[in-house]
Amino acid sequence: MVTVVAINGSRREGSYTKLGLEHALDAAETAGAEAEMIDLGTVDIPLYHPDHDPGERITDLMARVREADGVIVGSPVYHSSYSSAFKSFHDYCGFDEYENTPVGLLASAGGGSYGSTLDHLRATIRGVHGWVIPQQVGIRGARNHFDEGELTTENLAERVADLGRAVTEDARLRAGERKSVPADD
Ligand SMILES: Cc1cc2nc3c(=O)[nH]c(=O)nc-3n(C[C@H](O)[C@H](O)[C@H](O)COP(=O)(O)O)c2cc1C
Repeated sequence: MVTVVAINGSRREGSYTKLGLEHALDAAETAGAEAEMIDLGTVDIPLYHPDHDPGERITDLMARVREADGVIVGSPVYHSSYSSAFKSFHDYCGFDEYENTPVGLLASAGGGSYGSTLDHLRATIRGVHGWVIPQQVGIRGARNHFDEGELTTENLAERVADLGRAVTEDARLRAGERKSVPADD
């Protein structure tokens, strides 16, 4: 079984990014993955310092990314880019965490623009040799699409679920666990 890990780059309680990622992970689980959330809202990530030991908490999180077969990165749109919470964690990560790992992207915006956030995420994941898949989801006016913790806008929910399924499928292919094709009889 493949493992898909989502990284939530929002620290806000009730984060729409986190809710979106949970929806993607549900779909990943339905597609046969073991799903895990790394919620950066629950961890105080120390600012990266090249001369300091990151400490066990960070190295544990890095190990979860390294061991994942697929990753879904989610960030709120902050000033047309991604959040410092995501960047703080990402600076600890490198090729060892992301090499040969398919990565799906999700961004949630208060307003209408999420394109540059997704582009910046795509560039920085490429920077650590992650394989960013073509599927990505931007949620504009995020508060309008959630109710009682659920993603309620149907076409958006389907796109987010598709993101979870696509990462799972790619992870499976890369992990060499190709689904067996039933005999044509
Ligand atoms: C520091 C900061 C910067 C923001 N910049 C933008 C922005 O450039 N464009 C936008 O549409 N929304 C912006 N927002 C609104 C957030 O994208 C929005 O609240 C989003 O839903 C937050 O995601 P979350 O619920 O996962 O925390 C900003 C919010 C904060 C706190």
